[in-house]
Amino acid sequence: MAKIRLRPVLETDIPILFQQQLDTEAAAMSAYPSKDRGEFMRHWEGILKNKNVTARAIIYKEKMAGHILCWKEGKYEQRVGYWIGREFWSRGIASAAVAELLAQVKIRPLVAEVANHNIASKRVLEKNGFELLDEGTKISIFKLK
Ligand SMILES: CC(C)(COP(=O)(O)OP(=O)(O)OC[C@H]1O[C@@H](n2cnc3c(N)ncnc32)[C@H](O)[C@@H]1OP(=O)(O)O)[C@@H](O)C(=O)NCCC(=O)NCCS
Repeated sequence: MAKIRLRPVLETDIPILFQQQLDTEAAAMSAYPSKDRGEFMRHWEGILKNKNVTARAIIYKEKMAGHILCWKEGKYEQRVGYWIGREFWSRGIASAAVAELLAQVKIRPLVAEVANHNIASKRVLEKNGFELLDEGTKISIFKLK
């Protein structure tokens, strides 16, 4: 597995995160349309202020490879999501980041939503013990008990 570390996301990371989410292949893979700069900045200001969100930068070889989030959705559900910059794909970074987050955040169950065509993300979850809970027409729900 890739050697990574997690640290809190800082405001100075946001321009890198913005570039990473502009990538059209990544946006298609995740089924999250890219946000424009203003929308993206507002989105992250909200995340960084929200005490119900754990936001971590994924550091690989001293570079910011992406981010991982864990947040409360609705009254009870705890969710996880992640994004890796395209130049860092296929090095085991997402798999290692989820493993590290699971070591740091002990809340269970955890839920993740994945576009059905996102094979890589499904593998990341399965390798970390998540199980398929529900397969919809476009989105699958995975759960770690
Ligand atoms: C999905 C994503 C997180 C995967 O990150 P990554 O660091 O490349 O993943 P890993 O290197 O840990 O690989 C995980 C598994 O997926 C496989 N994989 C990687 N890229 C793949 C691809 N394009 N197609 C199919 N499988 C792929 C790997 O082989 C690995 O499986 P294995 O261990 O059985 O060989 C990354 O591509 C990404 O951020 N995409 C855009 C945003 C996104 O989709 N986020 C997730 C939303 S749910």
